[in-house]
Amino acid sequence: MTELAAIKHTNLFATPLLAHRWSDGPELNEELRERILAEEQGTAGESKTNVGGWHSEAGQLEFCGDAGRRLILHMYEMADEATRRVLTEYGQAARPMRWTLHAWANINRAGDFNRTHTHPGSTWSGTYYVDPGEPPDDAEHGTPIHLFDPCQGRANTFLPPLIPSSILIRPEAGLMILFPSYLPHTVFAHRGRRPRISIAFNLRKEPFP
Ligand SMILES: [Fe+2]
Repeated sequence: MTELAAIKHTNLFATPLLAHRWSDGPELNEELRERILAEEQGTAGESKTNVGGWHSEAGQLEFCGDAGRRLILHMYEMADEATRRVLTEYGQAARPMRWTLHAWANINRAGDFNRTHTHPGSTWSGTYYVDPGEPPDDAEHGTPIHLFDPCQGRANTFLPPLIPSSILIRPEAGLMILFPSYLPHTVFAHRGRRPRISIAFNLRKEPFP
């Protein structure tokens, strides 16, 4: 055993990422899909980070009926669970948090994409996948989201390419992911036969930050 075999080794400044496939996803998605596509017909949508595609107004998914209300509860559940885990990691007891939530639906058709961005002014951001959109090469896995290391120094200069500077998550119907709002992310151009339908959301801790 060398002198350094028992050296103290810590990883600092970790970035939490949570992913969960909700068991009631199939049931929710049927209604969500129908209502989102209907809303697209009636409204012009907003232009944010999307290039092409359609983006609903940010709100409480009022146009998604009961499925929208249930999904919003899932967003709160996931943010509470994620926060509880972070507090535990830092040796603190769980405590109730007050959140301001905004959610919006996205439809990307072939060629539509989302530029690299963060969600300033929020604590947690996430995406829920209603329909991955059936890409031509692999019906099981849709157009991924890429999450980038927010620490530029690590991403660009610290033993590249050993340490990845981004990770890719393939959407699955019913999957919800949650990450800190400062994390840069992008969605490459969709290549699917069906539209890729997702619901993005922000939760801001009150008072912020
Ligand atoms: Fe985003």
